Amino acid sequence: MRCRAVLNPILTAASSPLPPAATMAAAAISLHHSLTPIVQLSRHRRAPPACTHSERGVSFDPSSAFYRSDSAAGRDLAVLAATLHRRHGRPDPSAPFLCLDAMCGCGVRALRYLSQAGADFVWANDASEALRPVILANLSRFERGSPPPEKGRRKWVVSHNDATRLLAERYLRREHFDVIDVDSFGGDAAYVRAALLALKIGGLLYLTSTDWRSARGYGSRSSLSSYGAYVRPMPYPNEIGLRMVIGGAAREAALLGFHITPIFSYFAYHGPIYRVMIQLCNGKDDGISNYGFICHCKSCGQSQTFRFDELGQISCGCPDRIDIDPVTVVGPLWTGALHDASFLTEMLTLANEWGWAYTVENGVTLEKLLSMMIEESDPRLPPGYIRLDEISRRAKVNSPPLGTLINSLRKEGFSACRSHIGANAIKTNCPIASCINIARGIRNLR
Ligand SMILES: C[S@@+](CC[C@H](N)C(=O)[O-])C[C@H]1O[C@@H](n2cnc3c(N)ncnc32)[C@H](O)[C@@H]1O
Ligand SMILES: [Zn+2]
Repeated sequence: MRCRAVLNPILTAASSPLPPAATMAAAAISLHHSLTPIVQLSRHRRAPPACTHSERGVSFDPSSAFYRSDSAAGRDLAVLAATLHRRHGRPDPSAPFLCLDAMCGCGVRALRYLSQAGADFVWANDASEALRPVILANLSRFERGSPPPEKGRRKWVVSHNDATRLLAERYLRREHFDVIDVDSFGGDAAYVRAALLALKIGGLLYLTSTDWRSARGYGSRSSLSSYGAYVRPMPYPNEIGLRMVIGGAAREAALLGFHITPIFSYFAYHGPIYRVMIQLCNGKDDGISNYGFICHCKSCGQSQTFRFDELGQISCGCPDRIDIDPVTVVGPLWTGALHDASFLTEMLTLANEWGWAYTVENGVTLEKLLSMMIEESDPRLPPGYIRLDEISRRAKVNSPPLGTLINSLRKEGFSACRSHIGANAIKTNCPIASCINIARGIRNLR
């Protein structure tokens, strides 16, 4: 077992209002001597500019940074998960809770980890040095006082490194974090290994991909080089996208002698954006029970999962072939649960406690989203979803109402629920042929 040191020196790190030349030094931390200029600067600190935005009561100004208010729900989920991890997820809950926002943009996440998730320390990094005044102005809004940090201890630092370099440096200095957030443009597969190395065992890694081409099978070479998965177009491409991101992280973790558990997986249409929060767990698992191939038969519409030891047996076996090559195979990717139901249930409880559950923010109601995710976590559910229009086309009946179909499937003993990823679609372990029969039954055509 690899032992990971707790990051004490970081809490004595130099903080924000250093001139750009000192930024790298700040990143190198353990700079007791730099505390004096900070104190002097804070005495003359100018009032931060007026806030133009607010998320769940936290005000900030994105200014020239890349910022999307649509992504607020993704940040809400991260804050809820980080808070629960701080409270109950660590072997020593009294240890300083350390977060690293590797691509912080205007610093909104860093600010929210500090002020809402109760982080004791946040490292806010963005490659763009031009964003420094914006990040500093936003983080400077954070009150350092309650409870007051020990003298000389920093609550946050700002740096401008390439994310891989920053993360690798943290690892080399044996500085490990409880939460690492990598919110990249495009795919973030390139940062995963360094992020896992800089994460505490048991820590949470929040990954983002906007690489919809790979996810949807229009960039098979890039999905292969980035995530090790060959992806072709599938009827549930956005769930495949999430599984591709998780699978890539699972492979990297296995390579380092660890394994991962998805805490939640969230697809958002704007972007589109694939976000996964994974937990780094000690030791290798068997490496294959949740990692394999998903196939879909165009002829009959049935999906199946195949393990590595079943590779030579991939076929559908349905009689009516309308296509010469009916089976599409993608993988290897994550075939296990997309979320941890008990963690999500706690997130929902916390969202209720904080009054976040029922407000509609940018079209997202957390109660609805988290409830759907909890249902999706049923371990009996296989990967993928079936769109209602596919069922109605094959059944040659009008689409049954979604709720009615789900209830009918449950009455027949199947697991069934909505998908947070595909509107007007169901996740079920019922074979498609039976779904068609049940849909006909609902329309009294059986
Ligand atoms: C999607 S934006 C971040 C948005 C921010 N996390 C939020 O929630 O509003 C991505 C940011 O990553 C920065 N960036 C791009 N490549 C980077 C790299 N290799 N290392 C560090 N930062 C990078 C960009 O300057 C940009 O601000
Ligand atoms: Zn078939």
